[in-house]
Order: sequence, then C-alpha cells, then structure tokens
Amino acid sequence: MTTRLTHILNDFETFLQKSVPNIPGFHPNFQKAFWEMLLFGGKRFRPALLFSMVDAFNPELVNRSFLPALALECLHTYSLIHDDLPCMDDANLRRGHMTLHKSYDETTAVLVGDGLNTYAFYLLSQANLTPSQVVKLVEILSIDGGLSGMIIGQALDCYFENITLDLDKLKFIHYHKTAKLIAASLQMGGVIAGVDNLEKIREFGFQLGLYFQVRDDIIDCVENEISTGKSTQNDGRKNSYVNLLGLDGAREELAGLKKELILMQEDFPNALRENLSELLQVYFKEI
Ligand code: IPE
Ligand code: IPE
Ligand code: MG
Ligand code: MG
Ligand code: MG
Repeated sequence: MTTRLTHILNDFETFLQKSVPNIPGFHPNFQKAFWEMLLFGGKRFRPALLFSMVDAFNPELVNRSFLPALALECLHTYSLIHDDLPCMDDANLRRGHMTLHKSYDETTAVLVGDGLNTYAFYLLSQANLTPSQVVKLVEILSIDGGLSGMIIGQALDCYFENITLDLDKLKFIHYHKTAKLIAASLQMGGVIAGVDNLEKIREFGFQLGLYFQVRDDIIDCVENEISTGKSTQNDGRKNSYVNLLGLDGAREELAGLKKELILMQEDFPNALRENLSELLQVYFKEI
C-alpha cells in the first residue's frame, strides 16, 4: 500500500539526494564527507513527524516543508556524527557504514558535524514561509536541538558515564538529549501548517521521544550491528534504562509509555491520528 505519507517520504529522499551543497575550496574529501552520512540513510523519523503534521493540517504546504524537514535531519545527523566520536560514545558503525571519524579522521567528523549544525539554520532561512514562521522554526530548532535540549542532554549523558544516577535524572537526560528534538519535529510541522495551539502535540512529542530513547536503550542490548546498522552493546558505561531497570524493567517501562501514547492520540484530529498510526506502527512492534 502506498499512502500519502510514504509518497511524501519518497519525494523527500529524492530532494535530500539533490540537495548536496557545493563547498568551496580544495579540501580533498570534505565535499564528499559532508553529505555522506545523510545519504547513508536512517529512518528519517523526525522529518516524518514533521510531515505527519503538515499533511494532516495543511497538505498544500507539504512542498514548502521540505527545507525545514531537511534542516531537522541535518541537525539530527550532526548530533549522531558527534555522538559517535571517541570522546563521546566511541562507535565505529552508523547507518550501515563506518563512522566518519573512522573512514576519514576525527577532524573531518567534528567539522562535518559543525557544518551540518549551522547549515540547518541556513536551510531554515531559505524556506518559502512567512518571516515570523521562519523565526519561530529557528527558535524551536535552536532551543530543542541545542542548549536546553539535545546539547545539555548529551553533556549529562557523557559526564555521568560510570556514575549511576536515579531514574528521575535518567529521565531528565533522555528527555533532553532525545525527546525535545522529537517534540520539536511535531511542533515545527504545526508551525508550518499554521496550527494555533500545539501544547497537547508537544506533550505527546515528549512522551514519544522518551519512548523512542527507552526503545533505543533496549535495542542496544538485544539487537546487533547487522539489524541496526550501528554499533550495539555500546551502553555498558551509560545510564540507560536497561542498566538501571534491567531488560525486563525497561520493557515494562516501554509498554507503559506505549499505552499512554495510544491514549494521548485519541484526542487528535482524524488525519493526524491516521498519519501517526501509520508511522508509529513499526516503532510499536515488540522488541
Ligand atoms: C538515533 O536516532 C539516536 C537517538 C536519539 C536514539 P535514530 O534512531 O533516529 O537514528 P537514524 O536517524 O535512524 O539513523
Ligand atoms: C544519542 O543517544 C542521542 C543523540 C542526541 C544523538 P545514543 O547514544 O543512545 O544514540 P545511538 O544509540 O548511538 O544511536
Ligand atoms: Mg550517546
Ligand atoms: Mg551513541
Ligand atoms: Mg543508544
């Protein structure tokens, strides 16, 4: 079955492939390295959330949402490239390929990450939206994908390696390093579509983000490099749900979050519920 959402995601993939920026200078491999991790794929979960909102509330604007969705994916991809560095999680594999610091060098990986971070905001500046919409998108992405979101989450995650935290603190980390950007994805879609009150959607996004990271913690424990395309069994030193609650405890937590998510969706308009249930189907499968 080819639904509207899969169509949009296919078109977005083509758009992403054609959007390789031209980088000036005579660096032998920076041009290639810059877009490579985006081309390696990934689930495109955050763009899909953004599209779910735009398609549900204002489908004529889907085409105008491609640049903001690409901005989101650039910022997320930068966070992965830096997350894999030896000074952070020290991982060799990402999106089915060697991590950039392995296939090139650390300097390239750091600078590709830096470049994707700033390029994300350039892309937002080019979106065919009203100036106040663009400013709002910049605000959301810079806060939730930045200092009060992903960055402080990652800083805490790395600082407290080898120091066992309580569950509330772990939740704080997961909420910041992952859930905020996921809530931002839905909110950005809402801003593009001109939706007025996004409080409930954002709440749902936080819960979904927590669900996503608890699931990711379980994946690290139960899956392998072939099924995930990334380094696994890599959370040994981390405060993860599996390390704090055990595998069964983490699975219980995940099941509870899933129940809440299903309940929360009931308040949403039909079109959004349909898009979300299609998108989340695979993430709701047992692991
Ligand atoms: C991985 O994100 C990092 C987390 C927040 C758990 P994804 O699981 O969305 O990675 P890609 O984009 O599919 O590669
Ligand atoms: C990373 O969390 C969250 C980010 C902000 C990138 P993880 O370190 O658990 O992500 P993976 O498992 O390496 O993809
Ligand atoms: Mg990490
Ligand atoms: Mg990691
Ligand atoms: Mg992980």
